[in-house]
Amino acid sequence: MQPSVARTLSSLAERRDETLKTPLRQAFAADPGRFERFHVTLDDLLYDYSKQNIDAAALTGLVELAKAAGVEDAREKMFTGGIVNPTEGRAALHTALRNFSGEPVYFEGADVMGEVVHERDRMLAFAEQVRSGDVRAFDGKPFTDVVNIGIGGSDLGPAMATRALATLASKNLRSHYVSNVDGADIADTLQRLDPKRTLFIISSKTFTTQETMTNARSARDWIMDAMGSEAVHYHFAAVSTQLDKVAEFGANGAHVFSFWDWVGGRYSIWSSIGLPLAIAIGANNYLDLLRGGYEMDAHFRTAPLERNIPALMGLISVWNRNILGRASQAVIPYDQRLGRFPAYLQQLQMESNGKSVDLEGQPVSVATGPIVWGEPGTNGQHAFFQLLHQGTEVCPVDFLVAAEPTAADARHHDLLVANCLAQGEAFMKGRTIVEARAQLKKAGASDEEADRLAPHKSFPGGRPSSTILYGRLTPNVLGRLIALYEHKVFVESVVWNINPFDQWGVELGKELANRLAPIVAEADADISALDSSTAGLVAHMRKLRG
Ligand code: F6P
Repeated sequence: MQPSVARTLSSLAERRDETLKTPLRQAFAADPGRFERFHVTLDDLLYDYSKQNIDAAALTGLVELAKAAGVEDAREKMFTGGIVNPTEGRAALHTALRNFSGEPVYFEGADVMGEVVHERDRMLAFAEQVRSGDVRAFDGKPFTDVVNIGIGGSDLGPAMATRALATLASKNLRSHYVSNVDGADIADTLQRLDPKRTLFIISSKTFTTQETMTNARSARDWIMDAMGSEAVHYHFAAVSTQLDKVAEFGANGAHVFSFWDWVGGRYSIWSSIGLPLAIAIGANNYLDLLRGGYEMDAHFRTAPLERNIPALMGLISVWNRNILGRASQAVIPYDQRLGRFPAYLQQLQMESNGKSVDLEGQPVSVATGPIVWGEPGTNGQHAFFQLLHQGTEVCPVDFLVAAEPTAADARHHDLLVANCLAQGEAFMKGRTIVEARAQLKKAGASDEEADRLAPHKSFPGGRPSSTILYGRLTPNVLGRLIALYEHKVFVESVVWNINPFDQWGVELGKELANRLAPIVAEADADISALDSSTAGLVAHMRKLRG
């Protein structure tokens, strides 16, 4: 971390007690303009950060921090194809995939927009042909089911968005996502399907991922068992950067779509990896998603940091992590269709910023990415919210909620919104012991009873949350939300001086799994070189298997 960034961070840390001195509920009571000052809008999308444990001075300090860290220069470097992923020697140009500015985007001296648009047009034309039934199965009839086989970024984005935009889905085609190497995943999916009517998309940037290739081979066997090897050509499409490996697998070359090394897996929903989503919702809706992403890019690239939603989100996250020591971050969509959004954000945030060495390979001097988790509201209220309200850990929460439902009874939606707002208010205000006691007394409790129960019924309050409120969950809104979190993660990474675009931390487990696979599969394989725990577990497994 540059000395100027470290200095700004420590002067922010010195402000910590001053900022926390005024409880949030008092800060609201004393300042009727708090919401007005601490929210930003981008069209219908509103980001309210007034219920965070911050004040104006902390915010000024955070903006200074962003400037000292060089967020603005780093942002430009990312948008213009600079090598922002130095450990892999790559650019991170996912923004080019949703660039509707008409301006070129250069990578290594060449404008990438021609090939981006060409490949997107091919992919979307194919998606429309599957939807219309023009792309047909081996028996000449249309497909009814599309199964995407992929994992991580080759699964989570399209799966999350297909669910989010389910009201726009084709009535003639069902979407399925298989990711886990656990055979239950593909078996449970296939048992509901007819091989004659099923199109598979094998989605893998590298086309080597163990889970995906294992599932792909099982799917191919299923098709061949039902219709013979000639059917493979008809029933498999693929998306990858490794076209030679795809060709070896046997998918129809006309149904193979590529993308580029400079698209990170967790940023790949904007590339051909979006194919299963485009099949589900159609080309125009998919393009609206991209346009939403582009609108957020334009905002992130041009809005002053003080009014820049991704920058503010990233800086508030740094504040919570580094100044207030909050180790986790909950994301609670009060939007059932965003049920997979927390899982999507887990990969985006934890694979990007779960790092402990900086860009120079030195140990970081501050805590980096928080643990990200979440479930839709109101369900979470009846599960883990107890800890959020009264537990000893303070966990900042992002609430997401739509003003209007996509397709639901308005009465349900009013209750949903009321619950979302109530939770934010409850986290912020809390309830003092005196208030709890008074409430108990009002309900008829004796003095003794009120004294006994009041500590249990009081809430500390001052628990931070932000709320993102949007009109309705459309493709455009979803595109803006995804890009918003992408840029938030980027801002954090610049402050922390880490590389958000590599993921070396997933490699060791992959290597060891490859080494262990034959040991697990072969009952007499030598286990003497294994550590005693792993050897003991293998031995017990062998015993259980008889
Ligand atoms: O294991 C992590 C990872 O490399 C992710 O970054 C990626 O999204 C996922 O695996 C899938 O990779 P691929 O698309 O190459 O199969």
